[in-house]
Amino acid sequence: MNELKGRKLVLGVTGGVAAYKAAELVRLLGKAGADVHVVLTEGGARFVTAVTFQALSGNPVWTDLWDPRMANNMAHIDLTRDADAILVAPATADVMAKLANGLADDLLTTLCLARECPLLVAPAMNRQMWESPATRRNAAQLLVDGVELLGPGAGEQACGEVGLGRMLEPEALCEAMIAFFQPKLLAGRRIVMTAGPTFEAIDPVRGITNSSSGKMAYGLARACAQAGAEVTLVSGPVSLPVPAGVERVGVRSALEMRDAVFAALPGADVFIGVAAVADYRPVNSAEHKIKKSGAELSLTLTPNPDILAEVASLPQPPFCVGFAAESRNLDEYAEGKRKAKKLPLIVGNLVQDGLGGDDNQVVLFDDQGRHPLPKAPKPDVARAIVAHLATLLPAF
Ligand code: C5P
Repeated sequence: MNELKGRKLVLGVTGGVAAYKAAELVRLLGKAGADVHVVLTEGGARFVTAVTFQALSGNPVWTDLWDPRMANNMAHIDLTRDADAILVAPATADVMAKLANGLADDLLTTLCLARECPLLVAPAMNRQMWESPATRRNAAQLLVDGVELLGPGAGEQACGEVGLGRMLEPEALCEAMIAFFQPKLLAGRRIVMTAGPTFEAIDPVRGITNSSSGKMAYGLARACAQAGAEVTLVSGPVSLPVPAGVERVGVRSALEMRDAVFAALPGADVFIGVAAVADYRPVNSAEHKIKKSGAELSLTLTPNPDILAEVASLPQPPFCVGFAAESRNLDEYAEGKRKAKKLPLIVGNLVQDGLGGDDNQVVLFDDQGRHPLPKAPKPDVARAIVAHLATLLPAF
């Protein structure tokens, strides 16, 4: 996806069992476009060799403060001079203690002390080590010093115990790095969004639904969270992973979606309706499976509430954003919906340009007029929508 394209990262690997996961992390960061330079501590090298990291990163691996390969013998300075960030993963209790106290007795800690770029640390240790007063103190000090702590997570540990102290998984760390570099355009904003299709039951196994992959909504929720917003995603049935930092509320029908939206709405600054809500639902849903017969069968349908229109007509509505997926006359239909539902912003797209695929092409309509965005991968489109939305929100 190239979301880390052009980023130079120094990855510090210290001596914890989770070092084996750092190999996968290098692969993922590289796949996302980052130029990764690994610095191994002596302890780290006991778990995974430099050869592995060199092969995966495509760059020389550094372990020694006195490495003569660096032109002026200044590896501790040169390696981070043009780096965008240092990530230490896994970070042992020992390296956290050193970083919190400004010790510099090997290449990695010296690099961290001499850096000009941000430092992120992914702790990995036994739960008692993590909970010990000394590590609590060190973690608090690192936060005060502006170091970003990623995790740790909870779960089963290499020692067999269960608790807090596991290194976050490589996928989660890679996501955290992508998020770290995003401008925090929506910091302090609370956003409620709808996603996916709704499913209106005819009987316990059949129903009426819309075709909606949920990809645009989940991508937008991810972009909002990465821009610093607190996001609640009220989602119809789709099987997509929930983006980091997003709270997902699972629903099935339009009525359940409406209830969940109104429950989440108090205090929200923004409401974004991305869901493809079914326009109608059966008046009656059979309790048991309807048996096949040769006779005709009629279903009586009743209109579903328009969730977005209801939210937008509250006495003090949040900033409301709609989506209009059309198969023709995009401008006319999208602008018509924006006016009818009283929305300050609507995102229009032609279904043939976006539905189900990885790319999308959208046009934003607001009080200032029409703003076409270039065709791009959905994550980029989501970020462009976030950037536009941020300019329209009232200042705090
Ligand atoms: O279905 P329609 O084209 O009117 O959808 C436009 C916008 O309204 C979308 O943002 C959709 O999520 C929202 N909507 C809704 N509840 C409905 C129908 C649509 O929130 N019942």
